[in-house]
Amino acid sequence: MGNEINASDLLIEVRDVHKTYQTGASGLEVLKGITFQIKKGEAVCLLGSSGAGKSTLLQILGTLDRPTSGQIFYQGQNLLEFNDESLAQFRNQKMGFVFQFHHLIQEMSAVENVMLPALIANENRQEARDKAMNWLQFLGLGERTEHYPSQLSGGELQRVAIARALIRNPEVLFADEPTGNLDSANSLKIQELFFELRSKLGLTLIVVTHDLNFSALFPRVFKVKDGRFA
Ligand SMILES: Nc1ncnc2c1ncn2[C@@H]1O[C@H](COP(=O)(O)OP(=O)(O)OP(=O)(O)O)[C@@H](O)[C@H]1O
Ligand SMILES: [Mg+2]
Repeated sequence: MGNEINASDLLIEVRDVHKTYQTGASGLEVLKGITFQIKKGEAVCLLGSSGAGKSTLLQILGTLDRPTSGQIFYQGQNLLEFNDESLAQFRNQKMGFVFQFHHLIQEMSAVENVMLPALIANENRQEARDKAMNWLQFLGLGERTEHYPSQLSGGELQRVAIARALIRNPEVLFADEPTGNLDSANSLKIQELFFELRSKLGLTLIVVTHDLNFSALFPRVFKVKDGRFA
């Protein structure tokens, strides 16, 4: 793939992002100048050893955390100029997140968990439920909608978490080790699912993984090393 990206195709532009964590008196510089661009619909993988800063970078790209310096543009909008409230709104509209652990609410059924981001965004309750049911159906969980997290398998839990990430129709799906907690058969299914979502929904994927079989599926892989792309 060439490095030239037309402005109209450009989704995310990251310019010289640095991140220093302040712990006690000392600072730990985790990101030391990251610059790159992501096109709409691309599938990008972040690789690197433990502690390299992959999750830190993903959180910053997903606006869950702010860099110490540098800039992030999303379709030309300078995200770091947004206040926290507008940023949260922007995130809820454009971005979906999946993590290694599903972070589902134990007291809520699968469908209630999936509905939650839509309810937070003040969507109509019945419409939110209908959408949640459709997503669960789409992800092969039509028979599990009323199950509670403790009544679901690892792969099913992760699919519920993916449905929850999709209910707001995001443009970008961020995932941090989404298969890290699954056996190889379930891991493979989730890997395939990510790429199916990309082709069917035109989603942009930004995924952190340790799994070299998974990373091999991505057209673009960035290796994070010593706070930079190796
Ligand atoms: N909130 C924080 N405060 C201080 N240091 C932090 C904080 N979060 C992360 N770090 C440190 O920053 C470094 C990068 O952490 P990060 O979680 O981004 O690594 P990672 O590449 O995702 O690692 P892993 O593969 O183990 O998940 C680590 O050394 C970690 O200890
Ligand atoms: Mg991590």
